[in-house]
Amino acid sequence: MRKKILVTGGAGYIGSHTTIELMAAGFDVIIADDLSNSNEKVVDRMEQIAGTRPAFEKINLADEAAVTDLFNRHRHIDSIIHFAAYKAVGESVAKPLLYYKNNLLTLILLLEQVKKHRIPGIIFSSSCTVYGQPDNLPVTEETVFKPAESPYGKTKQMGEAILRDSCLADNDLHAIALRYFNPVGAHPSALIGELPNGTPSNLVPFITQTAAGIRDQLHVFGDDYKTPDGSALRDYIHVVDLAKAHVAALARLLNGKQKSNYEYFNIGTGKSLSVFQLIKEFEKVNAITLNLKVTGRRTGDIEQIYADTTLANSELGWKAELGIDEMMRSAWSWQQKIR
Ligand code: WQD
Repeated sequence: MRKKILVTGGAGYIGSHTTIELMAAGFDVIIADDLSNSNEKVVDRMEQIAGTRPAFEKINLADEAAVTDLFNRHRHIDSIIHFAAYKAVGESVAKPLLYYKNNLLTLILLLEQVKKHRIPGIIFSSSCTVYGQPDNLPVTEETVFKPAESPYGKTKQMGEAILRDSCLADNDLHAIALRYFNPVGAHPSALIGELPNGTPSNLVPFITQTAAGIRDQLHVFGDDYKTPDGSALRDYIHVVDLAKAHVAALARLLNGKQKSNYEYFNIGTGKSLSVFQLIKEFEKVNAITLNLKVTGRRTGDIEQIYADTTLANSELGWKAELGIDEMMRSAWSWQQKIR
């Protein structure tokens, strides 16, 4: 019997790429998504890639009655991968209550269903933003959290605390949090990728939209950081590598390989790149010259972060394989498709 995985936010950027990898690994997927940051065409594209259509439920996961009904109709769910959350750092500063309510209530309602229906496990979409600006680099999973730079980051710190406390109180609850570094790029088919709503806040979609002439100019937010070229450093990871990390974490959960019932892993490449370096890679791989201007720093940005991925490599048997060239090539191929 094929195992059934509920993927909340499965029509989103990381959720759609993970759904493809889950289906390729032989799982049946049910996507639950409110389409606030996606559209159902993405499900059509997933069907094109996978050859079969994942089950899809349009649902507000902050609506308790709707969530209860969903789990009453879909019995024998073997695990949940919970992506559904608002994730725009700047928006979270302007609308904190929206972020706390949506990002925390959806998790709490899901955990109530996990307990009620004795669902074997849940994987939580966390973020390197939980670390704030670390004192020492690379960050390990035991790096102490600094105050998060935004309400978005705080909802990820609180989400992990909710999972930790729930697992401490209930040995039958099994959870894994994956702390993403910076996901970029798109599926090699160029049928799915990042679909930012409105003006992109993230670097790579802004780069591809500038290259496509949708944006006039790319602004580099600060070149006065204490880094080799003055621009900020991040750990950029291909979204397909990130998707595969979820399949590896799911296997650990379902095969009972966890060493404790709440675990958390850094999912990055372990390499850091500056904004200028990433821009140069994009220009080189795609033979494009970008119109850019250096401006002041963006409020809330940290100077540098990148991952120590030893734990995920050893415990999940997972390692990022795709390089920055494929990240930049696939990002541009995707942009050209959706232009
Ligand atoms: C990367 C670098 C910017 C745009 C955030 C969240 C993280 C995850 C990814 C959700 C920074 C610079 C950016 C631009 C620029 N979110 N930049 N010009 O802020 O590292 O991470 O998004 O999953 O949780 O914290 O990503 O892509 O916004 O910025 O110079 O137009 O690019 O200053 O140094 P960030 P980002």
